[in-house]
Amino acid sequence: MISIAHLSKTYASGHSALKDVSLDIRRGEIFALLGPNGAGKTTLISIVCGLVTPSAGTVSVDGHDIITDYRAARAKIGLVPQELTTDSFERVRDNVCFSRGLFGRPPDPAYIETLLRSLSLWEKRDALIRTLSGGMKRRLLIAKALSHQPEVLFLDEPTAGVDVELRRDMWNLVRTLREEGVTIILTTHYLEEAEEMADRVGVINHGELILVEDKAALMKKLGEKRLTLELSAPLAGVPDLLAPFDLALAPDGRELTYTYAAAKEGAPGERAGHPAVADLLRAVAASGIAVRDLRTRESSLEEIFVSLVRREP
Ligand SMILES: Nc1ncnc2c1ncn2[C@@H]1O[C@H](COP(=O)(O)OP(=O)(O)OP(=O)(O)O)[C@@H](O)[C@H]1O
Ligand SMILES: [Mg+2]
Repeated sequence: MISIAHLSKTYASGHSALKDVSLDIRRGEIFALLGPNGAGKTTLISIVCGLVTPSAGTVSVDGHDIITDYRAARAKIGLVPQELTTDSFERVRDNVCFSRGLFGRPPDPAYIETLLRSLSLWEKRDALIRTLSGGMKRRLLIAKALSHQPEVLFLDEPTAGVDVELRRDMWNLVRTLREEGVTIILTTHYLEEAEEMADRVGVINHGELILVEDKAALMKKLGEKRLTLELSAPLAGVPDLLAPFDLALAPDGRELTYTYAAAKEGAPGERAGHPAVADLLRAVAASGIAVRDLRTRESSLEEIFVSLVRREP
């Protein structure tokens, strides 16, 4: 749906915000763009939406080049910007209808009503925009972005400043849009949002796209599982029988921890030279260690992200 090739952006200040980024977004997917503050996410989105001119490289949206064929490219796109930019003295419904008109689409009051209702803005349809709360303004921006029924929706930090319940509603809206075939690209600092929503994840750092991966594959590849055994009596050292498992003994001798790749299918741990957990438990029993309790922990997208970004210079 979107094809980005060798895209670079150097701002007039001389700051190089994007460095040779290439990325293809598939039709109908939810793509989460992750990266720390200043990484270049908004710059990338702004270029695709025609708000920032690229220094080098090309972008096409459904086959339409964003520069030579910008009208067709932009008509396909809806953008919910990161910054709250609204016309204070307009009324909610008028403003959304006007946005639709900007794209040359004929009026469709029934669609606008459905849209405002799905964003819980129908009660506020005749309110002046400046009287809305911050979260309502953000929902208004979403309504405006969807007013012309775009095929691609960019959500730049859609849930910043949005309360927990509304965030759930927005996730549901995004899922509904995806079912209707809309391609969605979102940036977020809430990793659990990407973990919950995205089909694919891209990580950008210092203007470079350092990773693009299916979310499930990423969690499987980089995810770790940790099994911790709480012991009834402290150990002075790891018994010889348990040496093959490469266990970590806590300084107080009361916990043994086994770390292994979090393979989702098959027996846990049965990968790449890791003995299976069942073997470990048998060996623990055979060595006569009394286990008081055990717990397991799986790494989240957040931990994967932090370790990726930290690894960069
Ligand atoms: N108009 C501009 N002129 C000069 N530099 C800019 C401009 N816009 C952005 N930058 C710089 O480009 C870099 C990338 O900014 P960008 O807004 O794309 O980051 P981001 O990934 O969206 O960050 P955040 O998570 O904080 O929104 C930053 O160093 C920023 O200061
Ligand atoms: Mg940004």
